[in-house]
Amino acid sequence: FKTESLSGTQIMITAGPTWEALDPVRGITNHSSGMMGYALAQAAIEAGAQVTLVSGPTALTPPERAKVVNVVSALDMHAAVMQDIQDKHIFIGVAAVADYRPVDQQGQKIKKSQDEMTITMVKNPDILADVAARNPAPFCVGFAAETNDVEAYARGKLERKKLDLIAANHVGGEQTGFGVPDNAITLISAEAATPLPKQNKYALARQLIAEIAKHYQTKNA
Ligand code: PMT
Repeated sequence: FKTESLSGTQIMITAGPTWEALDPVRGITNHSSGMMGYALAQAAIEAGAQVTLVSGPTALTPPERAKVVNVVSALDMHAAVMQDIQDKHIFIGVAAVADYRPVDQQGQKIKKSQDEMTITMVKNPDILADVAARNPAPFCVGFAAETNDVEAYARGKLERKKLDLIAANHVGGEQTGFGVPDNAITLISAEAATPLPKQNKYALARQLIAEIAKHYQTKNA
């Protein structure tokens, strides 16, 4: 893609998992490594964009020229995104945000006692939906990680959350998706579905950024 196709553009990307604490040493999380989001941040910088990367806990080194905001929980990520979203032209939600968090966070380590314990959980805010509902809203790109009926569920999310694009991500196999170097997606807009076949996440990110730039420019022409 043209190297400067996003010059002058401010992009915010969420990446990685969130960590929903149960107590000071335990929590609920998922297998997102952050790789896909960090790769998109790198590709967007190479395309000339200014990138803010809001990242859950990962073991990765962020791209040098990204502004990085480190967060832990979904509530932290929501607050960090909302605080900084005003001047962004494009928002890409790659983070695997926990849909629920434990109602209670114990201040001390939970002690082993009964044979069973129940954890009551409450819904987290939907960061992507809240960004897309802004007026004016940035150009919004979501990811949809699904194990089955990938395109149908992704199209549902595109419409329900009022997104410009969604990357339908088949997960649950061992070769693509969470925590592995490769990924494969189908990029869905209101008009079309474009398959971007299995490849290294950095190569895929460059293709995806080129597609996002094209759609963004068409919308703003
Ligand atoms: O990090 P890697 O190991 O490289 O793996 C990459 C990935 C598989 C995590 C990534 O490619 C991916 O698919 N990310 C989205 C995972 C996900 O949780 O999807 P979802 O279907 O639950 O959410 C749909 C969209 O809404 C996503 O853009 C998500 O960021 C956003 N969302 C979801 C819930 C919530 N409370 N807030 C959100 O913003």
